[in-house]
Amino acid sequence: MKVLVTGGAGFIGSHVAEAYAAAGHEVVVVDNLSTGKAENLPPHIRLHPVDIRSPQLAEVFAAERPEVVNHHAAQISVNFSLREPRFDAEVNVLGSLNVIDCCLRHDVRKLVYISTGGAAVGEPRYLPVDEQHPVDPLSPYGCSKHTVEHYLYLFRKSAGLDYTVLRYPNVYGPRQDPHGEAGVVAIFSGLMLRGQPVRINGTGEQERDFIHVADLARANLLAVSAAAGEMYNVGTGVGTSVNEIFRVLAACTGYAQDPVHGPALPGEVFKIYLDSSKAERELGWRATVSLEEGLAETADWFRQRLAVAG
Ligand SMILES: NC(=O)c1ccc[n+]([C@@H]2O[C@H](COP(=O)([O-])OP(=O)(O)OC[C@H]3O[C@@H](n4cnc5c(N)ncnc54)[C@H](O)[C@@H]3O)[C@@H](O)[C@H]2O)c1
Repeated sequence: MKVLVTGGAGFIGSHVAEAYAAAGHEVVVVDNLSTGKAENLPPHIRLHPVDIRSPQLAEVFAAERPEVVNHHAAQISVNFSLREPRFDAEVNVLGSLNVIDCCLRHDVRKLVYISTGGAAVGEPRYLPVDEQHPVDPLSPYGCSKHTVEHYLYLFRKSAGLDYTVLRYPNVYGPRQDPHGEAGVVAIFSGLMLRGQPVRINGTGEQERDFIHVADLARANLLAVSAAAGEMYNVGTGVGTSVNEIFRVLAACTGYAQDPVHGPALPGEVFKIYLDSSKAERELGWRATVSLEEGLAETADWFRQRLAVAG
């Protein structure tokens, strides 16, 4: 099967592209390299350095004729979306509409759309957050990512588009940039390995659902054969505090300093974690990488990268 991964040169998309390739599929990537890097991909995965908003995207679809499209490309910074909501919408809404249009015109069998479970919900009304939880975004990013879910629903009804939505919580793992929604793991790892002070915003008791990128790569494989029009949370179901992340990473990196506590970030959700029982029931998926092993592997990756950088 031929799979086209948008955003496949990025942190999560590159792991997903590799997982499809390892499962025997032919994989091509579309990425404008705004945050992604060509070196995140092995040479056997072809990279088209194209913007998802551009008319060139249709040319890539015409040349490659993918059966499955996995849509990871996005403007992912919550802070940037607060400053530049128009740009955020151009990439995340209009870019996604271009992807959907190409899928419809080129007879793509399945579109897997990557959404967010964290940024779209706001402060949860109950925990864990399931797929029925009301949507109440606190940022243009949460709004733009969620908006595409409505378009998908619409194009399924009006044009028979077959799609599956995966809603991610906070993702961590090798290749993560310290700017994403789960940047805390990348930021703490880098600071600890350099022996620099680590600042925790607020009390550190705020909780998130931290999922290792390898677990998500597996969810993306399973999503290809999911029923059309379904949406799945893919998280651990467990809230982990930032203090706990600090403690485990400090143990992995041999960091002996205490954290410095700064003011809490305004507008930050206090506690959120996702109920992924639907994915377990219907896709046979659940998170398997423990926080300890996932953080140890991630810290090792950052250690090696620092060593190479000198
Ligand atoms: N990191 C998280 O914790 C998290 C949580 C929830 C959802 N997500 C979603 O996962 C996806 C991947 O995020 P990531 O953390 O790997 O970020 P990332 O920035 O590493 O990946 C995004 C990729 O998209 C590419 N891209 C951006 N704009 C583009 C455009 N206009 N045309 C073509 N390519 C473009 C970038 O170059 C990059 O390679 C995004 O859709 C994001 O919204 C991430």
